[in-house]
Amino acid sequence: MSYQTPRGTYDILPEEIGKWHDVEQTIRKITKNYRYHEIRTPYFESTNVFARKNDSSDMVNKEMYTFSMGHDSYTLRPEGTAGVIRAFDQHKLYGRMELPARFYYMGAMFRHERPQKGRQRQFHQFGVENIGLKTPEIDAETIALGYDIVKAMDISSVKVLINTLGDDESRVAYREALRAYFTPYLPELCADCHRRLEQNPLRILDCKEDADKEFMKNAPKLSDYLNEESKEYFSRVLAALDALHIPYEINEQLVRGLDYYTHTVFEVVSTRSDSGAQGTIFGGGRYDHFVEYFGGPEMSGIGFAIGLERLIDLAEKEGHDFKEDDHTDVYVIGLGDVAGNVLSVVQTLRHAGFVVEGNLVQRSMKAQFKSADRCNASYIVILGEDEVKQGTVNLKKSGEKEQSSVAVDELVSVLQERMNG
Ligand code: HAM
Repeated sequence: MSYQTPRGTYDILPEEIGKWHDVEQTIRKITKNYRYHEIRTPYFESTNVFARKNDSSDMVNKEMYTFSMGHDSYTLRPEGTAGVIRAFDQHKLYGRMELPARFYYMGAMFRHERPQKGRQRQFHQFGVENIGLKTPEIDAETIALGYDIVKAMDISSVKVLINTLGDDESRVAYREALRAYFTPYLPELCADCHRRLEQNPLRILDCKEDADKEFMKNAPKLSDYLNEESKEYFSRVLAALDALHIPYEINEQLVRGLDYYTHTVFEVVSTRSDSGAQGTIFGGGRYDHFVEYFGGPEMSGIGFAIGLERLIDLAEKEGHDFKEDDHTDVYVIGLGDVAGNVLSVVQTLRHAGFVVEGNLVQRSMKAQFKSADRCNASYIVILGEDEVKQGTVNLKKSGEKEQSSVAVDELVSVLQERMNG
């Protein structure tokens, strides 16, 4: 019998965690510059937070981890936006925060997808939601944040794909046109697209199974159904991106896989040939009706989420130098029956702010020096029975032969002086 992580999940081992810390720190630093505030919502919510109305997305219809406890149904969060908006409304933050209210979150999300490279069942997202005001410049500013993060991770082979889904009026007109267009092709559409035709024909444009079919090419284009207001909004978003020197490509096929979007939608994709089928690093868009849906006022928001596994993978491929902080300031070696004394020195040094490892079992000196080496210790403190009697320790810099005797009481100040001097 062997125990393994469930399919589509994985362990992040200590040898990998440095990369995560690096990316998390970079993200926190940049988001702070933009004045975003962290929000932490539960990893599971009542199912109706995600399964809204007649939602047509694959995420809601096919990929949710839903379970019942008593009479209640819960779902592991497949994405972060719904939980944030639920919290925004539940705590009436719209009345208490400066608008736009800027939130960010980082953590695991769960989708029952077919696992492959870059696609897991438990994965991690960093996401932002920018709620309460609606201007094309805010849309551009939101995209700029994601773009800044990608750049800070030294990823340059990317492009921003952008599109508009227009306002309600434009989308209703477009949906009708799509429904009329696809209905005669019903026998050729996959089973999921039969449902999509009913629920939301926009989803058909996103179907992987039907993507290459001939009739897909001539499907009506959303741009032909946009009203003047929607066109004007979109052109101002593009102008704002131009002003920020953020290159983009308008992609009329981009409709995004989630149901809540209105107006601007965008994705940032890798242009590397080795990034595989899962080249989308982040995606997002504006939503006009989400805040109202959970009982709040009529307020628009915009956000995106970055897949952290994909971000780290690409950063690695592009040669980002991950700052992995795995240093040890001091390793304390004990010779003879002195484990108690070693522990006391170790704790004194830790409380003074040093990163310390100590040997608390009886082992040969050679083995202990080897451990000190493996811990990458800058300094080594050696404590034998004679030193204990004298109230001293021997101190030496790693890699150097010379060692000096230091009174235990002075060890902290001597180390501070040597390390800072
Ligand atoms: P999404 O496009 O579903 O959007 O996911 C955003 C990103 O999460 C993707 O671009 C990808 O990098 C990553 N991702 C998604 N599924 C997986 C998976 N199975 N394995 C690995 N990475 C994955 C959202 O989730 C929206 N909530 C974004 C948003 C925020 N829109 C507005 N605000």
